[in-house]
Amino acid sequence: MTRIPLMAGNWKMNLDHLEAIHLVQGLHMALTDANFDYSKTEVVVIPPFTDIRSVQTVVEGDEMGIKYGAQDVSVHASGAYTGEVSANMLKKLGVSYIVVGHSERREYHGECDQKVNQKARVALENGMTPIICCGEGLEVRKAGEHVPHVLAQIDGALAGFSAEEVAKSVIAYEPIWAIGTGEVATPEDAQEVCAAIRVRISELYDEETAAATRILYGGSVKSSNVADIMAKADVDGALVGGASLEAGEFSKIARFDA
Ligand code: 13P
Repeated sequence: MTRIPLMAGNWKMNLDHLEAIHLVQGLHMALTDANFDYSKTEVVVIPPFTDIRSVQTVVEGDEMGIKYGAQDVSVHASGAYTGEVSANMLKKLGVSYIVVGHSERREYHGECDQKVNQKARVALENGMTPIICCGEGLEVRKAGEHVPHVLAQIDGALAGFSAEEVAKSVIAYEPIWAIGTGEVATPEDAQEVCAAIRVRISELYDEETAAATRILYGGSVKSSNVADIMAKADVDGALVGGASLEAGEFSKIARFDA
């Protein structure tokens, strides 16, 4: 079972739509210059909602191999939910991926595993791939409880999913203490938890489903550390924050084997 590596850049609340166009064009140019093969590695940008239409226009207009995603989605289909964005609206914009349960959503918007589960379901039902985030804070890590903590999040996020739905989804392990801190988990730390997640999927479903599901690492990934992280058997890609905001740097991350 070969899992195609996935390099996703979560821009968070950075860049307006004009800056988004500039970054996507720069990324495309940098990858084209390097003869990048999009069939071997998926490259995804995840801009704020207000940028998505502009990103769609340049990606489709120039037939780029880059895909794009959204940072969140409403659990509701439509109606009186001020400020929310539905899965159908995202689908209409050609969105491929939706990040659900990012630690910043969990912390600042009170998203629990049940909400994450609902959002992942909404993404799948609308034909998009959820990138389901999990990860422990520093206290949990210090107490040595990181693996059970993350597995409980996974159990909650995947509740009620079929094996097929899990295999179509992406999991992102992002230890909170390594996000935006410059404190990158060691490749061994990343492997430990990504492997434990894969074992859990094989217990909940079967070996085949576990072997098909892509598991990413996120937290201070840069071009200088990505190759060592990607060398680990159970790490299938990266969810990149800060380093995805610069075309040259993110293109190097996407070419982790270069
Ligand atoms: P940084 O790469 O900036 O640490 O952010 C990681 C992240 O949260 C991606 O979703």
